[in-house]
Amino acid sequence: MRHIIDIENISNDLIIKLIERAQYYLDHPHQIPSYPTHSCGLLFFENSTRTLHSFYLAATRLSITPLMTNINTTSLNKQESVTDMLLAWAAMGVNVAIIRHGDNHFCQKLKEKVDSKIALINAGSGMLSHPSQALLDAMTIHQAKGSWNNLKVVIMGDYNHSRVARSLVTILNKLGRVSCHWVGPEQWQPRDDSRITVEKNIHTTLSDADVIVCLRIQQERLSQPIDTKNYLLSWGLTKERLKLAKPDAIVMHPGPINRDIEIASDVANCQQSCIHQQVTNGLYMRMAILATITDSS
Ligand code: CP
Repeated sequence: MRHIIDIENISNDLIIKLIERAQYYLDHPHQIPSYPTHSCGLLFFENSTRTLHSFYLAATRLSITPLMTNINTTSLNKQESVTDMLLAWAAMGVNVAIIRHGDNHFCQKLKEKVDSKIALINAGSGMLSHPSQALLDAMTIHQAKGSWNNLKVVIMGDYNHSRVARSLVTILNKLGRVSCHWVGPEQWQPRDDSRITVEKNIHTTLSDADVIVCLRIQQERLSQPIDTKNYLLSWGLTKERLKLAKPDAIVMHPGPINRDIEIASDVANCQQSCIHQQVTNGLYMRMAILATITDSS
């Protein structure tokens, strides 16, 4: 495996291997490989807590030296191109660049320019793709449900701007037999995506759900900010609505969460919530990704 750019281009075999490897590291925290001669650079053009810090921690757990960058203090601020920056990293022996950017195809375009010099990991690109999140989400669902088959997955909220949701639907369709449903305000409904059933009624949609995925309202991507005052009442996941799902349904959210907007605070904190487990799995999944890329370099 040279790069991780999107879920579409990762074989099912490799997806399963990454999930198994992440689970192994989670279960055997003292049996972690060590790559002390390797280094990786973290280049984030958009804000992040979970992805940035878990990749940083994953690298340090594997004894890979992480280079944290602040865009404003790199030579990108002196008109250097990202390609030239990555080639400079490669010339110093940096093995992997982990990149988040607002452009949907940023990593794909970079790959063509740097190809074999440095491995690329897409840490979230625009509204299209967030492969490490999809992998950790698939891992979380498997931990809770034991398989990816015969599951009713309900995705709530802003699908249109969500790279998380798109990558999740892709990975679930690759791995198992799931039925994916979406419910939320009409302006955010999935378009041209036959993998998802667009629903209108929040109550019937949640009925018998196995997995509920709440999406963050991404005010920063909206052309006009939406009024969130009544959102929870209209479209959010409340305790009462959660009762419509199966008793063992799990609640997921990629984070960061807007408490009492897309998800009620007591739901985010409840027993069925896997939100913190997703973050924990994120660390081990990113270790698995870095170790697998390093092994094959
Ligand atoms: N889920 C996710 O990508 O979170 P961050 O923006 O905090 O990395």
